[in-house]
Amino acid sequence: MNRRNFIKIAGLGVGSVALSSTLMSCSDSAPDEYYGWNGLATHVKDIRMQVLAYAILCPNPHNKQPWIIHLTGPASFNLHVDPDRLLPETDPVHRQIHIGQGTFLETLAIAANGLGYKANIEYFPEGMYGNTELIDKPVAAIELARDTGMNKDPLFNFLLQRHSNKREYGNYQLNESELSTLRNAHQRHGEYSLTVMDSPQGKANMVKILTNAMQIEVGNPQRDMETIEMFRFNEDEIRKFRDGFGVAQTGMNGVTKFIAETFFLDRKTVEEDPTEFGQQAVDMTQKVSESTNTFAWLSSTGNSRLDQIKIGRDYCRMNLQTTSMGLAQHPMSQVLQEYDDMRDLQVEFKQRFNIPESETVQMLFRIGKAEPVTHGPRRLVTQLIQSA
Ligand SMILES: Cc1cc2nc3c(=O)[nH]c(=O)nc-3n(C[C@H](O)[C@H](O)[C@H](O)COP(=O)(O)O)c2cc1C
Repeated sequence: MNRRNFIKIAGLGVGSVALSSTLMSCSDSAPDEYYGWNGLATHVKDIRMQVLAYAILCPNPHNKQPWIIHLTGPASFNLHVDPDRLLPETDPVHRQIHIGQGTFLETLAIAANGLGYKANIEYFPEGMYGNTELIDKPVAAIELARDTGMNKDPLFNFLLQRHSNKREYGNYQLNESELSTLRNAHQRHGEYSLTVMDSPQGKANMVKILTNAMQIEVGNPQRDMETIEMFRFNEDEIRKFRDGFGVAQTGMNGVTKFIAETFFLDRKTVEEDPTEFGQQAVDMTQKVSESTNTFAWLSSTGNSRLDQIKIGRDYCRMNLQTTSMGLAQHPMSQVLQEYDDMRDLQVEFKQRFNIPESETVQMLFRIGKAEPVTHGPRRLVTQLIQSA
């Protein structure tokens, strides 16, 4: 049996094992000395470190963790994009990297609230830069002010549970009540347009577009290598890099994961010839899309760095909201990306779904139901902090 067939079979098997297995939960994640998912260490008293320990758990592209923190005072710090943690091939204008600044800010604001502080956030305190450039200026200045009179944000309770769920969703159809809860939650806080699409015809088109988009993405060796670089082939790599994602984040676990990592997945072989790995991504995209009945996107009329950051905040809330409702959520960004090869398919995507050409779809994702997957790794908060 070759590697591809093994993963295919394992992938199918895992879905059914997952439904009955009690081992497949987020609490089954690896030891906390390299995952931050088990809550705050009791010795951490500094409120800045406390909120940052939550913020680092936010969704972010390829789990690159593209953040630098400059501490500016006893309860304040600045957030910068880490220029060494970009995705130049798949995110050439750093739009997704800036969405990942917004998810970070939203998570830290919710964490501050839950800990009895208000996070006062000033965006681009030294001025905003253009949306095709990256200049070393802070994305936000954050000041934490004690405030015990605030209404508690119920999403605080889901920060340690939230994740992106790449499993199949068994064609779960969100009911009217779930859809209106999501829409209402978005209306209360969200600034940008949310579209939910759950028609069978729309789904058929979406499956084709998402699958083609992945085919295009893996058709270029540099783009392919960017993803392979962030793929963690085994626990040793996870421990070493503490970023990226591996088979556990697709839902594989236990013996299947062990066998896949030990006998079938190997960085050297994949890097020598990534064809099979790429085709696997295409097959999985098709399979998970076909298993989904509800797709959604967040879009904006403007596309400034500020729009991107605020969309990140909206997206993060949506992911926490679905978590609170026992739903699963998974971004599928390929067709939104800005490299030349994707242009025609992106035009077709917008035409098929009546999205004005002038609008930017910032996040495209599927929603459904699935067992949770193991959380992705995170670095230590101290690794984000640099002197100004
Ligand atoms: C801007 C953005 C784009 C993303 N695009 C994808 C994607 O195309 N495919 C995917 O599987 N996950 C995507 N993700 C999810 C990330 O891979 C995920 O957030 C990251 O690995 C951390 O994992 P977690 O969300 O489970 O904590 C995206 C996340 C963000 C914020």
